[in-house]
Amino acid sequence: MPDALPTEIDLTRPSAARVYDYFLGGAHNFEVDRQLAEQIASMTPNLAATMRSGREFLRRAVRVLLDAGIDQFLDIGSGIPTVGNVHEVAQAANPKARVVYVDIDPVAVAHSRELLAGNDLTGVIHADLREPERILTETRRLGLIDFSRPMGILLAGVVHFVPDPDGPEEILSTLRAAAAPGSFLVISHSTFEDQPQEMLDAQRLSARTATEITLRSRAQVTGFFGDWTVLEPGVVHMPLWRPDSPADVDEHPERFGAFGGVARYDQPAG
Ligand SMILES: C[S@@+](CC[C@H](N)C(=O)[O-])C[C@H]1O[C@@H](n2cnc3c(N)ncnc32)[C@H](O)[C@@H]1O
Repeated sequence: MPDALPTEIDLTRPSAARVYDYFLGGAHNFEVDRQLAEQIASMTPNLAATMRSGREFLRRAVRVLLDAGIDQFLDIGSGIPTVGNVHEVAQAANPKARVVYVDIDPVAVAHSRELLAGNDLTGVIHADLREPERILTETRRLGLIDFSRPMGILLAGVVHFVPDPDGPEEILSTLRAAAAPGSFLVISHSTFEDQPQEMLDAQRLSARTATEITLRSRAQVTGFFGDWTVLEPGVVHMPLWRPDSPADVDEHPERFGAFGGVARYDQPAG
């Protein structure tokens, strides 16, 4: 934990970011988070694997964006820094790559700030995805991302924390509208499709955190890309999205419980 923990953290309630950190083998979690994580793990081993699989999907997607020339990333719902963060993957390929991290969780934000101190090409914003205008305003204020150039918007494992009444479609549409042609959008999102009952029950435990999960269909997740061009192989169970090697793909890729996809904003014709 950083020396100065933010004062607004609630230690009586597990946090999605810290449960996720525990599943990924991190040290930035409290007893209340570990208890929930262990309860989830006892119900289904899949969820921990899902979280690791999600992280791997994100890294593969970022590499594809880097290969396409993207050198600036807005990573919303970035989480508690773990090994192989977006800026590490990006700056290993392009030392000039810029990354702005955004998270609602004060612990995630505090750790990110601590880790990134001295890295002038990265920034951290404490904000809620449900306030996309504020995220955009604060990102512009940081001055790291040039909105007139293509960027990568990363929404890995976060849109499912936005319930339907909060208008996830409008949020996505606001973010897409801020991006220049040639930009990319990366989404991974938990689903109920093809899931065994124990996975659905385990996901329901997220109601104990401040951020309950809404599971969605492949069609709903695809809709979040709007009219952008969804890259091959489409919106698929995460391990199936451009695996590094066929051997990396589990016999049952659906058991990871989430879809992943990447889309590009192609300049409208005419
Ligand atoms: C499952 S973690 C994903 C972390 C990282 N993107 C990854 O894929 O490895 C989800 C993160 O989203 C954050 N989060 C949840 N709801 C959010 C919201 N409304 N706005 C911003 N971040 C949110 C949580 O705090 C958590 O850090």
